[in-house]
Amino acid sequence: MNITLTKLTKKYNGKELFSIPLLSLHQNDVIHLGGENGSGKTTLMKLIAALDSPSSGCIVVDNKERRRWRFRSGEKGVIYMHQTPYLFSGSVEDNLRYGLLNHFNDKSLIEYKVDYALQVAKLSAFATQEARTLSGGEKQRLALARAAILEPSWLLLDEPTANMDHHSIDVVAFMVDALIQQKCGIMISSHQKTHLTNICRRRLQLKAGRLLEVLDNAEFAKHAS
Ligand SMILES: Nc1ncnc2c1ncn2[C@@H]1O[C@H](COP(=O)(O)OP(=O)(O)O)[C@@H](O)[C@H]1O
Ligand SMILES: [Mg+2]
Repeated sequence: MNITLTKLTKKYNGKELFSIPLLSLHQNDVIHLGGENGSGKTTLMKLIAALDSPSSGCIVVDNKERRRWRFRSGEKGVIYMHQTPYLFSGSVEDNLRYGLLNHFNDKSLIEYKVDYALQVAKLSAFATQEARTLSGGEKQRLALARAAILEPSWLLLDEPTANMDHHSIDVVAFMVDALIQQKCGIMISSHQKTHLTNICRRRLQLKAGRLLEVLDNAEFAKHAS
């Protein structure tokens, strides 16, 4: 799924947060979205996921202009993962099963997928534990596993590593890598560099209402300075 933002602006209370003349997101992109707190990273991700509407401009998804903003469910195939994920009451495996029940009828296929997701997220030992009793890092891994299991075209991770230890960051990096292999487009927002953001191939930066493409390239740095 390719997503193009054109002449996009977002205002809150009449004040412009950012203005983006053109941004093309290509299927298979692995993007780090940087920017200080309050620069608009969360807002931009929600616009891309159709969980919020722009003040002006348009978003084209696979050559079709988006007309509907689904404030609860967002764009089909695009999953936005909140920085403090909402988990359902119930066990870890219940949380994984929940989304699958809407997509698959085959019970053994569902159990196979749940089992696989538990393994990849290194949560097998917690399968029957109440999800809300997990640590912060484990909750993030569960939320990511729950998103990945639905095989999205795009996954937008909002500050996923903010409260994570090294072990969880490594597990998340491994999970994101698996998604990249499956050709899922990835965008990770964070205001600092981590092991996870290092796997990104494209760097965008929100700064003072502008979106900059950062090229890690000595030649570019020469011209930019
Ligand atoms: N619903 C809203 N109403 C008014 N202001 C908002 C709303 N959502 C976000 N903002 C403001 O927009 C700015 C950018 O917020 P946000 O997108 O969360 O930035 P970031 O994720 O980079 O920290 C902040 O100053 C925030 O207070
Ligand atoms: Mg944010």
